[in-house]
Amino acid sequence: MKRLLPFLLLIAAFVLNGNVSGVDNQSSVTDSVYLNTKTVISGLNVPWEIQWGPDNWIWFTEQSGTLSKVNPETGERKVLLRLPEVYRYRSLGLLGMAVHPDKSKPYVFLDYTYKNGTVILSKLVRYTYTADTLINPLVLLNDIPGNTGHNGSRITIAPDGKVMMTTGDAVKGANAQNVNSINGKILRINIDGSIPADNPFPGNPVWSMGHRNAQGLTFTKHGHLYSSEHGDAIEDELNLIKKAENYGWPNVEGIIDVEKEKEFIKNIKVTEPAKAWTPVIAPAGISYYGATAIPEWNNSILLVTLKTQSLRVLKLSEDGKAVKSEKIYLDHELGRLRDVCVSPAGDVYVSTSNRDWNPGEGYPKKDDDKIVKVFKVKKPAASKVIVKNEVKPVALPGAVIYNNYCASCHKADGKGIAGVFPPLKGTSRVLGDKNALISVMLKGLSGPIVVKGQKYDQEMPSFNFLSDKDISLVASYIRSQFGNKATAVTAADVKLVRSAKK
Ligand code: HEC
Repeated sequence: MKRLLPFLLLIAAFVLNGNVSGVDNQSSVTDSVYLNTKTVISGLNVPWEIQWGPDNWIWFTEQSGTLSKVNPETGERKVLLRLPEVYRYRSLGLLGMAVHPDKSKPYVFLDYTYKNGTVILSKLVRYTYTADTLINPLVLLNDIPGNTGHNGSRITIAPDGKVMMTTGDAVKGANAQNVNSINGKILRINIDGSIPADNPFPGNPVWSMGHRNAQGLTFTKHGHLYSSEHGDAIEDELNLIKKAENYGWPNVEGIIDVEKEKEFIKNIKVTEPAKAWTPVIAPAGISYYGATAIPEWNNSILLVTLKTQSLRVLKLSEDGKAVKSEKIYLDHELGRLRDVCVSPAGDVYVSTSNRDWNPGEGYPKKDDDKIVKVFKVKKPAASKVIVKNEVKPVALPGAVIYNNYCASCHKADGKGIAGVFPPLKGTSRVLGDKNALISVMLKGLSGPIVVKGQKYDQEMPSFNFLSDKDISLVASYIRSQFGNKATAVTAADVKLVRSAKK
């Protein structure tokens, strides 16, 4: 489970004084691919799903409940539907969408969360589109159990016309291993909601299982289905999805490499990911790139990420079954990225997610959120290019661990987010009894707590997989940063608490 992100030496170059007309931002470079970006539309609120439609407009959902399309050339926008029933909260709302690629089937599939009393649920609805609106809603899947997180929702249409959709585990890991639960799965249904006769479990929409919260889904030209999936504190994944297979959550995270995982697969067959990331990157939308406009990217999965704010190009093997390499673009240039789509001409579009519940530092900017076109430009004249090696400031070892494992929630400045992630600045848990602090890191924390007069009731993952040394470094770091002044924690302290737990 600890397969570290292979360290990529990125040579970043910034193009100055670019003269491509109509371009509002000259942008990132790695290897031989020089990219430029152009904003198609701004002022949006978390465009969760973007898709190139059969009418050559980009169709998109916004999390609070609107479905629109935008002309990628002019930026003209048409709002097609507003759904007042949508319940938006944190990562919930109007999420996945798929427009049927075949014009003779004028359908749009939408998945969103709603509330029945206090119960959170989600549903998959098919609409029929006309020139300017959507009509005839037909509910295909109703009352999918939901939660305040992990609601899945990416939808795509398979080459054979079936509707594929991800569901999250609704924060109950056991759901993912229960074939009779609709949660923690990738589903496959017909476009009228009926269950295909060749599904692996008769009468059941489940196609694959053992998923935590997959929020990316795409088919390659070979017909392979890939999903991207959020891990817990470790092990984000890209999976090659096959009929009836089990991807292991919550019993196996990433590759099968620790004792409890090896034990688990003695009885249950688990498919390992095509790629896994620790520290986590928070993978969101994916899209297959089969075009040649950017020849270097041909036959890749394009993946956008939230936490690491990047567009990643995962080059596939010729048969499309394995990931050969990974390159990182748009690194921290646009903020959090939620989704990616590709035009038939091979232009790439990404959507930002800077107005969601967990914005990065310095975001949202005034014109967020945006849909941005990304395209290749010729190598600029040498005099206009500054090539610099990525310079990483020398950091305290504890700082590196903190930034990799804690800052996505508690933030780089330790201030957290009121009501969601507690602050680590000047709090009794951080500054007080060392053993209690170590214990939170080893075991995680859930259930209601009050920190500085504010209530919190979310899950803190366990960091049990970190070594005694690493736990001591990060604990010492948070006790001495953000204006905190408390004594250091040693590896021996951690060892004692860990052995007392056994
Ligand atoms: C995925 C988000 C997330 C990550 C990553 C995370 N935490 Fe937390 N942390 C939380 C949440 C949520 C809580 C509150 C849990 C609750 O409501 O019971 C919390 C609680 C805590 C607390 C107790 C706060 C108090 O005052 O009682 C400490 C200490 C803490 N985290 C430290 C860390 C450290 C150190 C790391 C990195 C090794 C880390 N956390 C990583 C989400 C996170």
